[in-house]
Amino acid sequence: MHIYILSAATVFLFYTIWSQPKSRLPHFDETLRELSFGDINFLHTTDTHGWYLGHLNQRQYSADWGDFLSFTTRLRGIGHARNFDLLLIDTGDRHDGNGLSDLTNPNGLYSSDVFMEQDYDIVTVGNHELYVAAVSELEYNTVVPRYGDRFISTNVEYLNNDGEYVVFGNRKYRYFTTEVKKYNIFALSFMFDFKGGNEKVRVTPIDTVVKEDWFLDLLETHTKKPVDLVLVAGHIPVSHSWQELYILHGVLRTYFPDTPIQYFGGHSHIRDFTLLDDKAFALQSGRYCETVGFMSLSNIKGDNIAIDRKYIDFNLQSFLHHTKKATIEEFNTEEGLLISEKLMNYSNILNLGESFGVVPQNYYMTGADYYSNDSNSLLRFFETDILRELKPKICHENMDPISPPLSNSRIVLINTGSIRYDLYKGDFNRNSQFIVSPFKNKWKVLQNVPAKIAHRIQAILNKGPYIFENEIDGTIDLEGLLSPYQREINSRMLTLKLRYGQTTTDDLGNDGDDTIHRPLPHFAVPNVIQSYEYTDQQKPVDVVFYDFIERYVLWALQKACDGDHLLYYSLIQQLTFYNDCEEEYNVGELLKKYSLKHWQ
Ligand SMILES: *[C@@H]1O[C@H](CO)[C@@H](O)[C@H](O)[C@H]1NC(C)=O
Ligand SMILES: *[C@@H]1O[C@H](CO)[C@@H](O)[C@H](O)[C@H]1NC(C)=O
Ligand SMILES: [Zn+2]
Ligand SMILES: [Zn+2]
Repeated sequence: MHIYILSAATVFLFYTIWSQPKSRLPHFDETLRELSFGDINFLHTTDTHGWYLGHLNQRQYSADWGDFLSFTTRLRGIGHARNFDLLLIDTGDRHDGNGLSDLTNPNGLYSSDVFMEQDYDIVTVGNHELYVAAVSELEYNTVVPRYGDRFISTNVEYLNNDGEYVVFGNRKYRYFTTEVKKYNIFALSFMFDFKGGNEKVRVTPIDTVVKEDWFLDLLETHTKKPVDLVLVAGHIPVSHSWQELYILHGVLRTYFPDTPIQYFGGHSHIRDFTLLDDKAFALQSGRYCETVGFMSLSNIKGDNIAIDRKYIDFNLQSFLHHTKKATIEEFNTEEGLLISEKLMNYSNILNLGESFGVVPQNYYMTGADYYSNDSNSLLRFFETDILRELKPKICHENMDPISPPLSNSRIVLINTGSIRYDLYKGDFNRNSQFIVSPFKNKWKVLQNVPAKIAHRIQAILNKGPYIFENEIDGTIDLEGLLSPYQREINSRMLTLKLRYGQTTTDDLGNDGDDTIHRPLPHFAVPNVIQSYEYTDQQKPVDVVFYDFIERYVLWALQKACDGDHLLYYSLIQQLTFYNDCEEEYNVGELLKKYSLKHWQ
């Protein structure tokens, strides 16, 4: 049991170095599970998506990247003292989803600079490093050289300026010896079968790579060297239902039948741990700087490998506790404080703290029930208040301004995938705007749709296939991929006054989260939501929607027309832009407009 003493001076220092003075300290009274260190230990981050400032309105995840650096420094110190190895792994998706990364050009200019302060042992790319050519270039030209032979990629390539495809990293693998225990590690890194990359990148799917001679030769060569552990850093879910992982595992086992294999995964934004066989372990460590994954292995050369895995909440209480520091002064390192200062500087340059109002209550995506009109449902709030902020407007040249008949009713439809994160009570600023919805889409309209037809569209879309959100992985939170997520926790725990937080069930049970929480409620969400403003229920409706879902809406319209082809074609003849000002009227901007009016 540790007692945390926060002196007035500490708190003062803390507030002055903190990037947002209004941010709060974590709950220092929560019960934590201990990390069980082994001969070799790993800290794992994945899908950080630029959240290096921490979660300013969620204490549970309120540590920043500077705190994380102090944490790894302190833990390395413990490792040296106790004679164990500690390795740091990052499995990609460092861009998109936070003002710090999304407000610079290219995206990630400042956030990469902050990320690179951390001394990782293995780093690889995620799909969010591959969408936009300028982002791939930035990664290749700055992050790859920063990490040198520690940046690896087995199946992603980059088209360099000489027109040659080269490894997106230093090499396709890394073979190295650990500092303390002198283990020989053979590390590989794989991206899932991703087809949406820009013209400067190429991903070869795992099921192709495992049939290629160079890869089989590489494995063969390493069977002749001492290998104590095979390590795979993947931007790929570790779920039992992810086929590619098993294809890879099957091939690795052919060459290394008895060697322990440790996988690190990502992309589906969950905490998960799976056992692939009795010597193959796979850890996935959440998203958005909410989680630091911890993995330890002991006795890896023997038959009975002892393991532990923990999902560490990204806050100072957890960081202090696991490094056995009683005060923040004792915990902080000079380097960590400098990163916090650097973050503050970037935040100021980007004006991220500019406040647009104060959110009066928490609004949840899946944590409140949309279907029972829970007043905490973020989706209901969008329907009743936010989407109404949309006005018709044309910004780009060569577009005819539209003037919808004023007497028409209006429906504004969006896919729920375009809303990416909860909205928490507290300051609503430029950063929060990006967090809730980073997408820049335009709006289209189907005009004068007969009311009867217009009202069928939403229901048809909600019965239809899942609409994938814009190039963002959050969508992968599909039921099939969730680890057997257990909502009930035993009633004994509920009677303790636990706070809500993540409760993970994985192949080792339900004791993986370092902080013991009550499970967050989790409700189903529809594909699309809509606002409805009417003059007269019988009047024709202008159906306005995010252009990203155009093909889905047209598909639904056709079904709604129920065989009346003439009507369908006459309606789509008039399909046009309603508002093409994506900088001024995207969903995040609508929220800002609302905040400026109502949350002052
Ligand atoms: C932050 O900005 C101040 C003022 O420009 C500068 O003196 C300081 O060196 C910067 N700190 C870091 C860590 O970049
Ligand atoms: C929720 O609100 C919608 C739209 O206002 C309404 O159609 C529906 O009946 C309400 N559901 C419940 C359970 O109150
Ligand atoms: Zn991601
Ligand atoms: Zn991803």
